[in-house]
Amino acid sequence: MNLSIPTELSGGAEKLIRGRRATRAFRPDAVPDDTMRAIFSLAGAAPSNSNAQPWRVEVVSGAPRERLAGALRAAHAERRTSVDFPYSEDMYAPVHQTRRAEFGAQLYGALGIGPEDREARAAYDAESLGFYGAPHAAFLFVTGNGGARLAADVGAYMQTLLLAMAAYGVASCPQGLLSFYADTVRSELSVPEGKLLVGISFGYADEAAPVNHVTAERAALETVATFHG
Ligand SMILES: Cc1cc2nc3c(=O)[nH]c(=O)nc-3n(C[C@H](O)[C@H](O)[C@H](O)COP(=O)(O)O)c2cc1C
Repeated sequence: MNLSIPTELSGGAEKLIRGRRATRAFRPDAVPDDTMRAIFSLAGAAPSNSNAQPWRVEVVSGAPRERLAGALRAAHAERRTSVDFPYSEDMYAPVHQTRRAEFGAQLYGALGIGPEDREARAAYDAESLGFYGAPHAAFLFVTGNGGARLAADVGAYMQTLLLAMAAYGVASCPQGLLSFYADTVRSELSVPEGKLLVGISFGYADEAAPVNHVTAERAALETVATFHG
């Protein structure tokens, strides 16, 4: 197959995959119920080790969404963080840090927040606990022992879900920040099992918002892939 000649299928895939962007400003319009069910059914087609499908997803809309946003704000104000998957800046290699810094400068630049303005950045992050204004949020839990291999399966589920949303014209933002309030999410939604990997805000994009026009560049192919043989 010659990848330089786009077929109708590869062109569609390219459009879908590159068209998915992290969206950080939403319109209030809800996603219709039948679209919601179609998206989450499609996401279930994600691959997993021996088809174990170790994910559990909790979706909030309407009043439960409002209540959860309030609980997250309160937890943030009281510094009640709790993580199921430990986080440390040390996990990043220098090259990751460079990419993160470049992306951060772009994102906060689009918001008019200067590189040294830590207070404004922190305020923006805190505000993002309101799901960037999205009418819905999905919380992805890793079931079983919640180990790295199972978490990788849930990562595959996440991307399948994001693409399914994009296919239906639904914009999204995966938010690792939401996973810093795992106990709050668990108790508000009475989640019986699993470790919280990530939350995803979703709905319809506010196309007029400058923050939604930030393009996160990617590393050159040669820096991440080696073709043997
Ligand atoms: C697991 C995960 C966690 C993320 N956490 C956040 C977050 O807390 N806040 C945020 O605004 N974006 C978050 N993002 C979005 C990334 O910043 C974004 O995917 C990356 O910069 C690439 O940009 P793109 O998605 O527009 O292609 C997260 C993405 C992933 C996959």
